[in-house]
Amino acid sequence: MVYTESDKRYRRYTITSALPYANGPVHIGHLAGVYVPADVYARYLRLQGEEVLFIGGSDEHGVPITIKARKEGCTPQDIVDRYHKIIKDSFEGLGISFDVYSRTSGKTHAETSAAFFKKLYDEGKFIEKESEQYYDTEAHQFLADRYITGTCPHCGNEHAYGDQCEACGTSLAATDLINPKSTLSGSKPVLRNTRHWFLPLDRDEQWLRQWILEEHRSDWKTNVYGQCKSWIDAGLQPRAVTRDLDWGVKVPIEGAEGKVLYVWFDAPIGYISFTKELKGDSWEQWWKADDTKLVHFIGKDNIVFHCIIFPAMLKAEGSYILPANVPANEFLNLEGDKISTSRNWAVWLHEYLADLPGKQDVLRYTLCSNAPETKDNDFTWKDFQLKNNSELVAILGNFVNRTVVLTHKYYGGQVPERGELTEADQAVIDSLRQAPERIGRAIETYRLREALAEMMNVARMGNKYLTDNEPWKSIKTDPEHTATVINLSLQICASLATLCQPFMPFTSEKLQQMLGTEVCPWSEAGRDNTLMAGHQLHEAVLLFDKIDDSVIEAQVAKLEATKQQNALNAWQPAEVKANVSIDDFGRLDLRVGTVTECHKVPKADKLLQFSIDDGTGMRTIVSGIAKYYPNPEQLVGRQVCFVANFAPRKLKGVESQGMILSVADKDGSLALLEPDRLVANGCNIG
Ligand code: MF3
Ligand code: ZN
Repeated sequence: MVYTESDKRYRRYTITSALPYANGPVHIGHLAGVYVPADVYARYLRLQGEEVLFIGGSDEHGVPITIKARKEGCTPQDIVDRYHKIIKDSFEGLGISFDVYSRTSGKTHAETSAAFFKKLYDEGKFIEKESEQYYDTEAHQFLADRYITGTCPHCGNEHAYGDQCEACGTSLAATDLINPKSTLSGSKPVLRNTRHWFLPLDRDEQWLRQWILEEHRSDWKTNVYGQCKSWIDAGLQPRAVTRDLDWGVKVPIEGAEGKVLYVWFDAPIGYISFTKELKGDSWEQWWKADDTKLVHFIGKDNIVFHCIIFPAMLKAEGSYILPANVPANEFLNLEGDKISTSRNWAVWLHEYLADLPGKQDVLRYTLCSNAPETKDNDFTWKDFQLKNNSELVAILGNFVNRTVVLTHKYYGGQVPERGELTEADQAVIDSLRQAPERIGRAIETYRLREALAEMMNVARMGNKYLTDNEPWKSIKTDPEHTATVINLSLQICASLATLCQPFMPFTSEKLQQMLGTEVCPWSEAGRDNTLMAGHQLHEAVLLFDKIDDSVIEAQVAKLEATKQQNALNAWQPAEVKANVSIDDFGRLDLRVGTVTECHKVPKADKLLQFSIDDGTGMRTIVSGIAKYYPNPEQLVGRQVCFVANFAPRKLKGVESQGMILSVADKDGSLALLEPDRLVANGCNIG
């Protein structure tokens, strides 16, 4: 059924996608790295007639959620309720075809993950250790993971977390941090003894080496393989799977009050819990049968958890299968900058769906064709527009539209009968026949960009076929062959309705409507007789519309506003300059004067020309503050402060005799200084 030899032995597919943390909405980086690829894969396998279970859900535990709740003065449950809904709805809006999208704060999950822990505990699979952990004596609490910040010992980043430094990507223990600080109280934490359970990963090295580094040397992606190898080579350490926290799944043994399962222990078990929720008693075959293929779609920051730690948990439990592949992607950047939730540097899915209604497939297409499969990639709005206008509209949309419109024009919308085939006709048929396998192989090996390009090549071929044969001319001279050309072009359209479905389900739906057909099994999508002669088409509708500059400009402006906001948020007073003596200061002659006249300097946007009564006469000063005083005449009568002993200099032809003092605000705007009561012109400032 499927094209890759090793897949022939599988009877069903368990496809997981990383559970997004329910402490923020989903953005295009998540989509390009995880959810669009996983959805393409799942949809494709369904079209292949395979049994598929595509799992998603919200990851609702972990310290960042409790920190956010504390900041907003609500409960962690409030936070996860809010974001779970936003995330779930937006995935649905984009057509991500989860069979189940659940959440880890649910009851089944608490039971499943607790039982998993208990089994490992009862069978002695953990080691129990007292160790020193940071404790906040003001907040009376142990400080797990992100409750601690400090300086990263590897790169010097001052805002590294107790579990990881986001600047250099190193995973850390809180005790590695230099100058540790509690994020709860800001105080310096103390070390206290506490008891935890550890998964002794050091004992897993041998089978992990064999399983990943030998058996999966050639079928796992090189980025995934490489990260696994360096983790294993560096020597695996026991990992604590419990935490001193009150948000999470309670550790189900006596003497563990106040402790919960580590979020990275419970979350991947969520895949299993959600399977139970959906499948009831028949859940086990999706996780325990050898003819089930388990595939984890994740981003690169999740590799160690899905390739080493979760497999070690499954292996320790004993009755589970291991993932057959973990096709992790690299990261997507946005307009040249790293996507960041805290800096709001992202295109949020729920906002995209609201701002660009009906354009789900444009985003799916752009993200898939730009998926960061082998290296980090960049999303830009310009590129998004280009992909829409010159690929989707100009190639796929144009081909389908020309074909359907001509069918209506010449044949009353009925598929015309085919005549004798030329060599060129036959070549099109042959190429079409090979398309499903070509695209399918690429999808099965997680080369989705290539798969998408091959799908578009089918539309390209159709376009070329029409252009080469010019049916709009040949209808007069050779009606028989014209009918053949239109018939074959329609067969290509019908193929595309199936071939584009994994990537662009909304477009496929439109195309099916227009052609009056449904998708066919993938293996039949290359046939040249899907549409029978005489079959009646429906109205021609455009599959895609051009996206205007104004739409793109609005999105770019939104990002620009974010950038400005971030600059404001990051503003800090400048460092104080090196000391000077009072004599140094005394050499400056600072005075007060009254503005008697003020106007723009002709042909100079930024400059204002002031006439100032300095107590001895009139002085002209040119100042670059026009932007902040659009009505300069209103400054007349105001007192200003100025440097009186600068050498005169010419600005745009006007001699300036000094400099007016102003202060630069944090957004860069300037404000004039003024004495707080009227003083005599010419008085000194000091
Ligand atoms: N919430 C994690 C993240 O966003 C992913 C969890 S995947 C799971 O990085 F397997 F643990 F569920
Ligand atoms: Zn670092």
